[in-house]
Amino acid sequence: MRAPFGSRVSITINSIEEHIIPASDAALSRHPLVAHSTASSRLVRALRGDRPEVTPAWFMRQAGRSLPEYRALRSRGTMIEACLDPALASEITMQPVRRHGVDAAIFFSDIVIPLALIGLEVEIVAGRGPVFSHPLRTAADIAAAVEIDPALVRERGEAVVDAVGRTTAMLAEESEARGEPLPLIGFAGAPFTLAAYLVEGGPSKDHLAARRLIHDDPAAWRDLTMWLAEVTGQFLALQVEAGASAAQLFDSWAGALAPDDYRRAVRPASERALRAVREVALPAEAGIERVPLIHFGVGTGELLADMSALDIDAIGVDYRVPLDEARRRIERDLTVQGNLDPALLFAPEPVRTAAVRRVLEQGAAARAHVFNLGHGVPMDADPDAIGAVVRTVHEWRMP
Ligand code: CP3
Repeated sequence: MRAPFGSRVSITINSIEEHIIPASDAALSRHPLVAHSTASSRLVRALRGDRPEVTPAWFMRQAGRSLPEYRALRSRGTMIEACLDPALASEITMQPVRRHGVDAAIFFSDIVIPLALIGLEVEIVAGRGPVFSHPLRTAADIAAAVEIDPALVRERGEAVVDAVGRTTAMLAEESEARGEPLPLIGFAGAPFTLAAYLVEGGPSKDHLAARRLIHDDPAAWRDLTMWLAEVTGQFLALQVEAGASAAQLFDSWAGALAPDDYRRAVRPASERALRAVREVALPAEAGIERVPLIHFGVGTGELLADMSALDIDAIGVDYRVPLDEARRRIERDLTVQGNLDPALLFAPEPVRTAAVRRVLEQGAAARAHVFNLGHGVPMDADPDAIGAVVRTVHEWRMP
């Protein structure tokens, strides 16, 4: 299957196989970065290191159960079915853009969708998270899994391409009304976070099964994470080719790792996943040669320097490290993204507004800042508080 903006894509599986799909300039020139001017959106400008007059804001988990209109649409069917229903997924993606006035949409999907696409049996259990019917418990389980061709993500990814196409069309309409280009952010899970679910079979507190495997069987660990890098990298590249103007790699649970293990056993796989997006060649008219990449994890204060060594444009910071301190830790001038503690969405208005301004002031220490929460929107957050945060961010000006 060819994505509508199909470009130069190379899929390398354990360095055995290589396919190069040649770029089509005509198809690429329909990419929203060109056709809908999202290259000049507040978000893309800030990710690339520019400081637009108004700081862009979006929220992790902005779509979802905090919105009554989401709960109304999601009353039937499973979460995975919803993600793979293009009309539904695109509508859910748009809901927070319309309601909160955020500066970007994030694709409604899940980090386990590429694993579902290649045939792994997974369910997303409400209040818990992804649960796999057949966890990868042994070296033999891993050896069997890595035989699955990551190219299946593309071959079976038509619903993803369709949903992204519908969303970018709706965003273009919304941009007209707003007078601001509105980009779509694509996303995927990093290999470590996906491996943590796969070897455990489901969510866990300390990701001990994955941390054990790194040391028990480094070869199996490497095979698993390098394979996951291809699977998740193809999922991310597919969204970018189909019309996403930026992409975020979530290594949500990397904060469970010691820095040395992160550098040795985890980062090389993240690097490989990101490379899949770097290989998407944009047309010269886009005015930018690469789609901006954001990398985020929870509790990664001790890993910020190591994570920022990846080929990324922006680093997402959780609420535990102030952005000016994060800027000192990252050792190079990246855009910072974050990091209001989601708990502040429940605070009285003056307390919340002061906290938002503090985050903006701390963000001024970096070359540019994308406002976000320090992790996802809690399901019981008041949607009006989220809209009020967006207005406070938009009114603020760099001193
Ligand atoms: O607005 C958005 O942010 C878009 C969509 C989005 C979802 N999942 C939808 C979703 C994104 C970016 C994700 C990524 C994701 N999924 C991550 C990385 C982000 C993070 O939080 O660190 C992770 C770790 C997952 C795995 C996962 N999926 C978890 C832990 C859960 C929560 C389980 C629960 O019910 O509390 C999910 C389910 C999920 N993903 C929901 C949504 C809207 C809720 C399920 C539902 O509404 O039925």
